Amino acid sequence: MDRTFVMVKPDGVQRGLVGEIVSRFEAKGLKLVGAKLERLPEERVVEQYREHKEKPFFPGLKAYIMSGPCFLMAWEGKGAAAVVRMMVGATNPAEAAPGSIRGDFALDIGRNVIHASDSPESAARELGIHFAPGELIGYSRIDEPVLYE
Ligand code: RTP
Ligand code: MG
Repeated sequence: MDRTFVMVKPDGVQRGLVGEIVSRFEAKGLKLVGAKLERLPEERVVEQYREHKEKPFFPGLKAYIMSGPCFLMAWEGKGAAAVVRMMVGATNPAEAAPGSIRGDFALDIGRNVIHASDSPESAARELGIHFAPGELIGYSRIDEPVLYE
């Protein structure tokens, strides 16, 4: 089954949105297989966002992600990375569809509440950056027989 990496950014934690965000993924049918609250060290932020290292917004992005605790999660389910990206919405919250997390809870591209891996390949890489193998817990959820065809 597919897994993806999702992180409530410091603005989302400060604004008390962790529970709301977890609830949305749970209600969708995704299975929580890892979670922790953490202040991210610089090396892991740089590794996480390595594709953006040379961009003008990178110093601000790094400072934002390191400004407070983040809530890190691993979610499992059919097509997890693509499904979660749809639920997260466009990078710029001003353009994110209503009903998406960024569309419902954010206004500014530099404070967009949540990160989600953009492909299954990114998900595998990012889960490896942030979780030790023993921190991801495989189990059956009782509703699985009625969630999938
Ligand atoms: P993320 O990686 O955080 O899930 O966001 P994303 O895929 O939707 O967008 P990405 O292009 O990967 O950008 C990463 C994060 O950098 C910040 N950003 N700021 N000021 C700007 O022009 C700008 N562009 C990007 C955002 O926090 C974005 O989520
Ligand atoms: Mg991205």
